Amino acid sequence: MATKFSPLSNSLFSLLLLVLQTTLSSGSSAVTSPTLSIREATVADLQLAFKKNQLTSRQVVEFYLGEISRLNPILRGVIEVNPDELHLADKADQERKAKAPSSLLLGLHGIPILVKDNIATKDKMNTTSGSFALLGLIVPRNAFVVTKLINAGAIILGKASMSEWAHFRGDAPNGWCARTGQGKDTYPCGSSSGSAANMAAVSLGTETDGSILCPSCYNSVVRIKPTVVGLTS
Ligand SMILES: *[C@@H]1O[C@H](CO)[C@@H](O)[C@H](O)[C@H]1NC(C)=O
Repeated sequence: MATKFSPLSNSLFSLLLLVLQTTLSSGSSAVTSPTLSIREATVADLQLAFKKNQLTSRQVVEFYLGEISRLNPILRGVIEVNPDELHLADKADQERKAKAPSSLLLGLHGIPILVKDNIATKDKMNTTSGSFALLGLIVPRNAFVVTKLINAGAIILGKASMSEWAHFRGDAPNGWCARTGQGKDTYPCGSSSGSAANMAAVSLGTETDGSILCPSCYNSVVRIKPTVVGLTS
């Protein structure tokens, strides 16, 4: 279990997509209702609303920026937001317009995604595993999964908080890191607790032994965990 931890090489972890959706829609999805609940919408709901010109990526990004500024002082689930997020959202909206309405855009096109702070992003954000020790570090490249997300059209909205060093530092409480303090999603548990705080359409965590299963379970969040057969790095 105690796999040696390295924040820049996520090859040691199974990488997991948490689809942040606090209700499992059973047929009557938000799409059919007159008002779409962005907070509870699936990626497919959002894509359909984009396609029907009922929603823009900018609106989704602005919604989550609002959630982050409203809730993050309490929940502390986000360490940094991407300073380029609105620019990336506008770019996605323009691309969609240029190709609309018929052609298919990539699956995650224009969808804001949070990635856990131990997943390297080569952008204006820091990758610190929750620790001040790595603040200002310049990573050599995007993590493999980040490249895949960007190639699939996703907007990296920010860095999700986590248990510092994914608990490999020692006996710190679940969901605590120096950079945000104690995370307070409903039941902080496991090191990917910030990823389960529902502050983006989707968020990516990492897990060695329960870091995603535990917080998503406690917070009624849907998570997807791939098998370790080369689907992720
Ligand atoms: C990254 O860390 C530096 C401090 O080293 C800080 O000035 C900068 O604002 C951080 N980036 C973001 C996007 O918060």
